Amino acid sequence: TKVALVYGGKSSEREISIKSGTAVKKALERLNIPFKVFDPADTEKFIKEITAYRPDVVFNMLHGKGGEDGSIQGLFEILGLKYTGSPVKASAVAMDKSFTKEIARCSGIKTPQWITVEKVEDIKKWDRYPAVVKPNTEGSSIGVEIANDKKQLINAVEKAISLDSKVIIEEFIDGREITIGILNGKVLEPIEIVVKEGFYDFQNKYLSDKTEYIISPSLDEKVRRDLENSALKIYRTLGCKGTARADFMLKDDTAYFLEINTIPGMTDHSLLPKAAEASGIGFDELVLKILEGALN
Ligand code: DAL
Ligand code: MG
Repeated sequence: TKVALVYGGKSSEREISIKSGTAVKKALERLNIPFKVFDPADTEKFIKEITAYRPDVVFNMLHGKGGEDGSIQGLFEILGLKYTGSPVKASAVAMDKSFTKEIARCSGIKTPQWITVEKVEDIKKWDRYPAVVKPNTEGSSIGVEIANDKKQLINAVEKAISLDSKVIIEEFIDGREITIGILNGKVLEPIEIVVKEGFYDFQNKYLSDKTEYIISPSLDEKVRRDLENSALKIYRTLGCKGTARADFMLKDDTAYFLEINTIPGMTDHSLLPKAAEASGIGFDELVLKILEGALN
């Protein structure tokens, strides 16, 4: 099997993609699987080179716009290449937080109340604090802020709008943060994220060593089933494949779905490899299973 390992790209998550991609590269080396690395930042060069290489499968380790949102998946489809992860539609929908929340709500899965705004004036409709402000199609918590009053909300929305044409304002759920990883249609062990200061932003995700990850946290059996079923329901409804990670807030035993990520990070700070490990799947085996998922 000849693998085209793709990472880098042009999104705001480029640096994280390089970290995820490098980790996968080391695993492919240990596994003795022939591969070549490609960076689609230069699109024309990328298309020429990957076409000439004729891989059996593309290992897509891009995050964010252009890599996780269905666009490069569309290119792979056109080129007739097999690739890891979700197909075009699931990727495109999952990248759109508001659209995914709409689908969750229609599927009977609770999600925090929210509105979508395209300009600062639209916030008039919002009066609940604290509120979480998120660019609608970003990842790695880029541009995410918590606003405690109207002034902070205006500031946060202004910043988020400079990153994305749509911004969501979401009810802040003051609870436990739990994530459910999925690998080839099966849930992995849950992880609880305990942040020491502030919230789970870019700093606390990738830079801080203070963030605590509780693997297989203590959860009521029913709550755990709820979380797992909701994660799987979203995964299946969207038509996801391979890996995904659904993020939730848990308050008074109610799980609130936040989003699903179709190319979860694989860095040494990332959650999916930790969840796999706890489920008895080491990093190299995880990489193998992701490849298998794409080839089947
Ligand atoms: N968007 C980052 C990479 C994640 O979900 O892990
Ligand atoms: Mg995300």
